[in-house]
Amino acid sequence: MVTTPLLPSDYLDLVSPLRAGADLCGRIEAVHPETGDAATVVIRPGRGWRGHTAGQYVRIGVDVDGVRLWRAYSLTSPADRQDGRVTITVKAIPGGKVSNHLVRRAKPGTLIQLDQPTGDFVLPRAKPAKVLYLTAGSGITPVMGMLRDTEFDDVVMVHCAPQPKDVIFRDELHDLVADKKLRLTEVHTDTDGMLDIARLGELVPDWAERETWACGPAGLLDAAEEHWTEHGVQERLHTERFRAGIVVAGDGGEVTFSVTGRTVDADGATPLLDIGEEAGVLMPSGCRMGICFGCVTPLKAGAVRDLRTGEITEAEPGVLIQTCVSAAAGPCDIER
Ligand SMILES: Cc1cc2nc3c(=O)[nH]c(=O)nc-3n(C[C@H](O)[C@H](O)[C@H](O)COP(=O)(O)OP(=O)(O)OC[C@H]3O[C@@H](n4cnc5c(N)ncnc54)[C@H](O)[C@@H]3O)c2cc1C
Ligand code: FES
Repeated sequence: MVTTPLLPSDYLDLVSPLRAGADLCGRIEAVHPETGDAATVVIRPGRGWRGHTAGQYVRIGVDVDGVRLWRAYSLTSPADRQDGRVTITVKAIPGGKVSNHLVRRAKPGTLIQLDQPTGDFVLPRAKPAKVLYLTAGSGITPVMGMLRDTEFDDVVMVHCAPQPKDVIFRDELHDLVADKKLRLTEVHTDTDGMLDIARLGELVPDWAERETWACGPAGLLDAAEEHWTEHGVQERLHTERFRAGIVVAGDGGEVTFSVTGRTVDADGATPLLDIGEEAGVLMPSGCRMGICFGCVTPLKAGAVRDLRTGEITEAEPGVLIQTCVSAAAGPCDIER
């Protein structure tokens, strides 16, 4: 009664936000620039943090201009870091709300919300004899988590970035090469052109024998999946995507967010999550690519299209949709 309308835990959150039993939070302790547009954020997670496996990602909730936004970031620290801190490494993308905030404006001391780490882009228990890491741009992050965590006898890495200065963790990678713990080929796409996967054999002759972890833009991963499948070794390729593959679009429609009382026109290619956020509707979200289900919302009326498959979902009582991979397919009402 004394603390009404707040709960006692709200006051505890003010003095001890990282305590056991509080909503899982983390405190940003440092932000270290890596390249001109990427930085590593050092986070001290609260007591409930269960730890991660190298290669996994964490969803974080960050306040940007007063709005809590959720995004996923791969953990770049090894799983057994002694000081209990973890790191993520973020590349600012043009117009990106959270990535620019974290790289350019986040301050030590800031509290962020955390989910438990998750993801199946991880190393197997039994160590493979030969490993290939195939990465591009910020796709190096989960692999750096693996490189820092687990040593293999025979590891080759092919990494693509526009120029040497854009290669995140370049000094550390070259130290590993000097210590003979890694063989590295950098493809500088501004001068060398894009990596042609069909010619991977020229860089890594025994690529098909290697257990491979690949992370980068959709074009690289699509080409890799095709190449590994063509050679009948698709079970050796493990991929991590940072964005959903949006393949099917159709006609849009008028979207009503009935709880907020907003109605906007939407095309048939833009996810309803983006449409709602643009319209100032409070939209829950997480990975923004269809894997975490952090965005599920009841569809009250009308129909939506799954942008990955083209499948149409029509409103029925109890029907939930993932707004990050669904677009309007005619007029619809989203319960937000
Ligand atoms: C499993 C997983 C792990 C991830 N790990 C990392 C990581 O370690 N480091 C990292 O920097 N990012 C990572 N991401 C991407 C990250 O979650 C965000 O998508 C990214 O930081 C952009 O968010 P934003 O708020 O800045 O952009 P938004 O404001 O959401 O988007 C701005 C514009 O950029 C486009 N866009 C959104 N995401 C991307 C993208 N990834 N690439 C290109 N264009 C995009 C949008 O369509 C929009 O036009 C990961 C994503 C997933 C799903
Ligand atoms: S935000 Fe993760 S599934 Fe939609």
